[in-house]
Amino acid sequence: MHQEKTFIAIKPDGVQRGFISEIIGRFERKGFKLVALKQLIPSKELAQKHYGVHKERPFFNDLVDFISSGPVVAMVWEGEGVISSARKIIGATKPLEAEPGTIRGDLAVNIGRNIIHGSDGPDTASFEINLWFNNEEICDWNPSDSIWRVEN
Ligand code: RTP
Ligand code: MG
Repeated sequence: MHQEKTFIAIKPDGVQRGFISEIIGRFERKGFKLVALKQLIPSKELAQKHYGVHKERPFFNDLVDFISSGPVVAMVWEGEGVISSARKIIGATKPLEAEPGTIRGDLAVNIGRNIIHGSDGPDTASFEINLWFNNEEICDWNPSDSIWRVEN
């Protein structure tokens, strides 16, 4: 079974609207494992690095200002297929196009206030995990019920 890790962040709007437990609960209920968690107000520099791939886009400055405007809950989740599964749980970038049942589909309307970030592939996941966390902040543990999570 190939375990992978992804970086998930609850953006300032998700925190301010009181969705921390709602969002963590969805990943927990799915069966993924939380291996790192912290709340911080990101610096402009961190936000710029995180969204560096978008630096030429017209929305870049607003995006960076927003992400560094308040508390973000930064997390690393682990599990089989967690990178692409998390993107499905999160839903499409434009909340009005996100399917009901997804986080953005259920809880948001505005593309600039779409509540949550998830890494979009293995390279991005590893870049983002290293950007937001030190190695010592990643917790290696095995849930006692892990026997129930594997394919037979
Ligand atoms: P994220 O990186 O935040 O998880 O979102 P995503 O992969 O679904 O979408 P991405 O293309 O990476 O865009 C990053 C964030 O930029 C904002 N955005 N605004 N005004 C616009 O046209 C526009 N396009 C993107 C969104 O907040 C999006 O989540
Ligand atoms: Mg993205």
